[in-house]
Amino acid sequence: MRPAVAATAARAATHALVVAAMLAAAGAATAQVSAALAPVGAERFATCAPCHGAGGVSTMAETPSLAGQHSFYAITQLFLFRAGRRANPAMSAMAKGMSDADLRTYSDLIATLPAAPPAAPALADPARMTRGAALAQRHRCNSCHGDDYAGEKQVPRLAGQREDYLARTLAEFKAGTRIGYTAAMNETLAAVDAQELPDLAHYLAHYLAHVGAKR
Ligand code: HEC
Ligand code: HEC
Repeated sequence: MRPAVAATAARAATHALVVAAMLAAAGAATAQVSAALAPVGAERFATCAPCHGAGGVSTMAETPSLAGQHSFYAITQLFLFRAGRRANPAMSAMAKGMSDADLRTYSDLIATLPAAPPAAPALADPARMTRGAALAQRHRCNSCHGDDYAGEKQVPRLAGQREDYLARTLAEFKAGTRIGYTAAMNETLAAVDAQELPDLAHYLAHYLAHVGAKR
């Protein structure tokens, strides 16, 4: 285990109580699990909804939406959390006790959650959108993430993801504290300046509203 990952994993253990408290505080949201989910799925997703939102559309700071994410991507990430190769206080605790069957059930469930509708275009800053678009083009982010940043297979959907989460996770890839299933992101970001990451996050979070307004 790399030292940075080991340190984060150690933090994860001490944060188990924090996670329990977060769950209790957010418990009320569990009741609102999307009616779009099949009853069995809704029951299973009730464990995840307090943080990832009803129907997988997150309203919690720095917590990703899962709606619209691909099952292959979801299972690789659950596997990484369980193995301690991707460390986060909340998710490391969640994934620790999962069986292989659980990983499969949850990732299949995630793939059934329809992606969130685009955010209001007014929330996008035109100057930052222009800078973000130029950066995404220069670094060919769409060559893997797809033309509409919808992702596929083990490559995640980025369009419409929470901006605060995107900014933080990009910074973690750049710093080498988030280790991917492959080195694709760590290598890609070696060529991107850390100060440019917030504009990329802003662009991707508002991408759908932006292209929707233009089309
Ligand atoms: C206590 C809050 C919390 C709970 C409960 C929780 N998660 Fe998470 N989850 C997070 C956070 C925070 C992250 C982002 C981790 C990071 O930044 O590395 C995350 C990340 C993920 C990811 C990776 C998403 C991505 O875009 O990379 C998956 C998949 C996931 N969670 C699945 C689940 C499932 C399935 C459950 C229910 C069994 C669940 N989570 C319950 C907080 C939570
Ligand atoms: C060579 C293919 C490739 C390129 C180019 C690429 N990515 Fe990725 N990206 C991936 C893969 C694969 C993952 C999944 C990470 C893993 O392996 O665990 C990922 C993950 C991500 C994530 C994490 C999403 C989440 O939900 O946690 C973000 C954000 C991201 N990429 C943004 C970008 C941006 C911005 C660019 C352009 C600067 C880019 N990517 C270019 C392949 C690529």
